[in-house]
Amino acid sequence: MKPAAGILYGVGLGPGDPELMTLKAARLLSQADVVSYFCKAPQKGHAYTIVSTIIRDDHKQLPLVYPVTTQYPVDDPRYETQLHDFYEEAAQAIAQYLKKGENVALVAVGDPFFYGSFMHMYHRLSGKFTCEVIPGITSMSGCWTNARTPITWGDDVLTVLPGTMDKQQLTKRLKNTDAAVIMKLGSNFPAVREALMVAGLHDRAIYIEYGTMANERILPLSQKTDDEAPYFSLIIVAGQGRRL
Ligand SMILES: C[S@@+](CC[C@H](N)C(=O)[O-])C[C@H]1O[C@@H](n2cnc3c(N)ncnc32)[C@H](O)[C@@H]1O
Repeated sequence: MKPAAGILYGVGLGPGDPELMTLKAARLLSQADVVSYFCKAPQKGHAYTIVSTIIRDDHKQLPLVYPVTTQYPVDDPRYETQLHDFYEEAAQAIAQYLKKGENVALVAVGDPFFYGSFMHMYHRLSGKFTCEVIPGITSMSGCWTNARTPITWGDDVLTVLPGTMDKQQLTKRLKNTDAAVIMKLGSNFPAVREALMVAGLHDRAIYIEYGTMANERILPLSQKTDDEAPYFSLIIVAGQGRRL
C-alpha cells in the first residue's frame, strides 16, 4: 500500500537567538523526519546555525543550495530564470520525501511568510501536499527590541522597505511615513543612507547587523562611517507619535 504523504512544515525560527524560537517550532523540528534549509555554498547559512543545536544524527538533512547568481544583474531576465529553475528543483527534492510519507521541516529565519524563500516552496507544494506554517518572530521585531527602540506610537504608520528599491522611490516612501524599517541592505547600503538623508530621517535611524545573534552590532546610523553592511542587517526609524 502506498504510504500517506508526509507534511511540509514551514518553520519560522525567529531572528537568530535560538531561544526566540517558539515551542511549537522546536517540537515540530525535533519530530520531523527531514530538516531542510536554504543556503549558499560553502556555508550552511543562518537558518541552519539557529537549528544546529536541535538537529540530531537521525534527522535526514536536505540543504537547498542557491545557485551562484552574481553573473547577472537582478533585473536581467536570466537572473529570474535561474532562480525559478532552482526553486522548481528544490520543490521536487522536497516532494520526493513527502511522497514517501516523510515529514519535512523547512526552516526559515524570522517568519516564513515575510520575505522568505519558503514562500516559493509553499506556492509550489501547498496544492499537492499538506503544508503547515509556524510563524516566527521577524528579524525587525528582534532588532528593534534589542535596540531598545519602541517602533510605533499612537497612530504611527510603519513602512517596511527593501533596500533593493530604486533610490528615488525609496526616498519618496520614506518622506511619506512615520516609522520605517529598511531590510536587505548589503551592497544597497550607501544608496539607502543617501535616501534617508534626503528624506530627513538619517539622524533618527539606527543600524543593526546580525540582530539577536552572537555577533550582533547596533549603532546610530550617524556613527557608522563605512559603507559596508552584511546581508543580515537592517535599519529602523522609530515613529514619534502620541506619547501619553
Ligand atoms: C529574505 S529576508 C528574510 C526576512 C525574514 N523572513 C524575517 O522574518 O525577518 C532577509 C533580510 O532580513 C533581514 N534580517 C534577517 N535576519 C536578520 C538579523 N538577525 N539581523 C538583521 N537583519 C536581519 C535582513 O535585512 C535581510 O536582508
